Amino acid sequence: MGEMKAIANLGNVPVGSRIIMDRLNTSARLMIVSDLDHTMVDHHDSENLSLLRFNALWEANYRHDSLLVFSTGRSPTLYKQLRKEKPMLTPDITIMSVGTEITYGNSMVPDNGWVEYLNQKWDKDIVREETNKFPEELTLQAETEQRAHKVSFYVKKDKAEAVTKALSEALEKRGLDVKIIYSGGIDLDILPQGAGKGQALAYLLKKFSTEGKLPFNTLVCGDSGNDAELFSIPEVHGVMVKNAQEELLQWHAENARDNPKIIHAKERCAAGIIEAIGHFHLGPNLSPRDVADFSECKLENVNPGHEVVKFYLFYERWRRAEVAHSEAYIASLKAMSLPCGVFVHPSGLEQLLTDRISAWGSHYGDKQGQQFRVWVDRVLASQISSDAWLVKFNKWELSGEERQSCVTTAILSLKGSSISDGFTWVHVHQTWLERSEGKDESAWIV
Ligand code: GLC
Ligand code: MG
Repeated sequence: MGEMKAIANLGNVPVGSRIIMDRLNTSARLMIVSDLDHTMVDHHDSENLSLLRFNALWEANYRHDSLLVFSTGRSPTLYKQLRKEKPMLTPDITIMSVGTEITYGNSMVPDNGWVEYLNQKWDKDIVREETNKFPEELTLQAETEQRAHKVSFYVKKDKAEAVTKALSEALEKRGLDVKIIYSGGIDLDILPQGAGKGQALAYLLKKFSTEGKLPFNTLVCGDSGNDAELFSIPEVHGVMVKNAQEELLQWHAENARDNPKIIHAKERCAAGIIEAIGHFHLGPNLSPRDVADFSECKLENVNPGHEVVKFYLFYERWRRAEVAHSEAYIASLKAMSLPCGVFVHPSGLEQLLTDRISAWGSHYGDKQGQQFRVWVDRVLASQISSDAWLVKFNKWELSGEERQSCVTTAILSLKGSSISDGFTWVHVHQTWLERSEGKDESAWIV
């Protein structure tokens, strides 16, 4: 650990402005700061299974008291594109463009204090002028990836080192203080010295600390060169996923080999993140997706979020014919619904909850062997009485190429006198969030 460079020296960053968050008035139990491409998202897993496993774990056990932070090299444009392509959760904080843009919440409110700080000793025009002198080695990336505090190129592996050196010298002579990062054996980013994924995280931690809300644990997750900085922030746990790039592993060997808080996972991407949660004992690490029979679930897992995840997982398995075709299942689901409980379909149609569940019978296995996945995002519960919760979440369904989602509000109440007796579904109300135009609304079941 002695070799670890503490880069969290933020000098005079203005951290006075509050972190604008929709929720969490106390310290997060766990803050996960994860890269996206080839870390949270496995581009070689067309079924997105490890991502869906992570999602279920997060919503069932962490969403209510923890923080999810995505830290990506992508610009807002490409980040939003990825969110459309993959079943990704909504993070609490989004760090984009290699730590040069920080936004908060679902509405992505930008942190302007961070932007101002990055203007020091930075001039994008000078960077463009100097990089123009290397037309052989540098190929400019797409216009969307050129940001106020990030200029990005493609560079072949064998040219990377020499170009980096020459550029650093040239830019220093012009009075700039920059950071040049090589990632994925192809991408070269030029940023202000104070920017980067690590510095952005250090900035957030400092803000949390000022507010007296430092997370109890932080886990950083990455696979490539621009993630290296995340691993040099003091106090954090880190996981380099199995499929980590050479440049990150090399950085680790040279700078952090003896740090027991950093592991190289045995599993790829999001599965490696789950592995690290277990390895460092950061909290529950059994994804509901890995549970075949929920009667075996431990009581510590019982909370409204877990109930919602479990319900929709069962629904997915029912339609994929991955559970037995048994009337007993439908009967027990009905027993979990209040007899006079109402379901409001996104079309506006009202029905008894128990009638809606009876209708599942005819849908058993209708998605067997097809691409069909269900996941929930932003599951948040507020207790509204001694034995009832108002639970709000976004329910997503992917069927073939088509994705639809509904904002869902549910009222859950305790069945017995204790939480371990489980919940009764009292009311469910859905409203379209994203809907396939021209598609028969009645194909949406729950
Ligand atoms: C993402 C960005 C790209 C950047 C790379 C590495 O792919 O789109 O601009 O160079 O990450 O940080
Ligand atoms: Mg990556």
